[in-house]
Amino acid sequence: MAGRLQDKVAVVTGGCSGIGLATVRRFAEEGAIVVIGDLDADRGPTIAQEIGGTFVRCDVTSADDVDALFRTAWETHGSVDVAFNNAGISPPDDDSILTTGLDAWRRVQEVNLTSVYLCCKAALPYMLEQHSGSIINTASFVARMGAATSQISYTASKGGVLALSRELGVQFAREGIRVNALCPGPVNTPLLQELFASDPERAQRRLVHVPMGRFAEPAEIANAVVFLASDESSFITAADFLVDGGISGAYVTPL
Ligand SMILES: NC(=O)c1ccc[n+]([C@@H]2O[C@H](COP(=O)([O-])OP(=O)(O)OC[C@H]3O[C@@H](n4cnc5c(N)ncnc54)[C@H](O)[C@@H]3O)[C@@H](O)[C@H]2O)c1
Repeated sequence: MAGRLQDKVAVVTGGCSGIGLATVRRFAEEGAIVVIGDLDADRGPTIAQEIGGTFVRCDVTSADDVDALFRTAWETHGSVDVAFNNAGISPPDDDSILTTGLDAWRRVQEVNLTSVYLCCKAALPYMLEQHSGSIINTASFVARMGAATSQISYTASKGGVLALSRELGVQFAREGIRVNALCPGPVNTPLLQELFASDPERAQRRLVHVPMGRFAEPAEIANAVVFLASDESSFITAADFLVDGGISGAYVTPL
């Protein structure tokens, strides 16, 4: 039986860990040809081999690297049907605005927001040529809700991803290209584990707001990405697609 993404060429950034890795595997299971762009040149080739895809070492803050990533997908596999622009960081020196320095602010903006601009700019000409494509940019529930456990640059960068995705979704709707922002709630990945390892109290403060009483598993987010990437979501564009275990709907959560 054909997969839900049969023979679609899908580029995934940050595909060597967490949400990206789970998505790479789900995409492959659904028949996609996957091109992974990630900094991690140790794990990348092995993961690409496991799923029969292609690995391109890529720093998503570099325009040249990003252009080479999408060009590789186009030249090697003949199209760019899906772009899952997902790589991101959440470093501990991005904290309250009172303590976060300009260097940390700028680094997070580069990796989380400028990268999405670069990836969309690189993917769109191919998608325009083929009059089809689905772009999914990873934002976060923190783009929609404020947190007292602040990561000021991270939150601002994800707000930028939402606005950028919405505008591109509107601009290119009649060209057969859909652009959506994915807003995961907290997900059990190295990014979150790293952030909370040093501060279990902070983790608990986040967890208490999740009606389901747990963090998401990466595969649960990947399932939503498969839907947004596939033709099943053909009337969904310019959306903020929340996959958050109910956080954004909650006023008081069950004990
Ligand atoms: N984990 C969560 O709770 C959560 C919640 C909401 C949104 N998100 C977002 O989801 C995305 C993925 O997060 P994750 O938890 O899977 O993270 P992760 O740390 O598990 O994986 C991130 C991947 O991105 C790669 N990467 C980092 N910087 C890069 C760069 N400059 N160029 C290329 N690749 C780079 C890393 O090598 C890694 O493979 C991020 O955008 C993150 O902000 C995560």
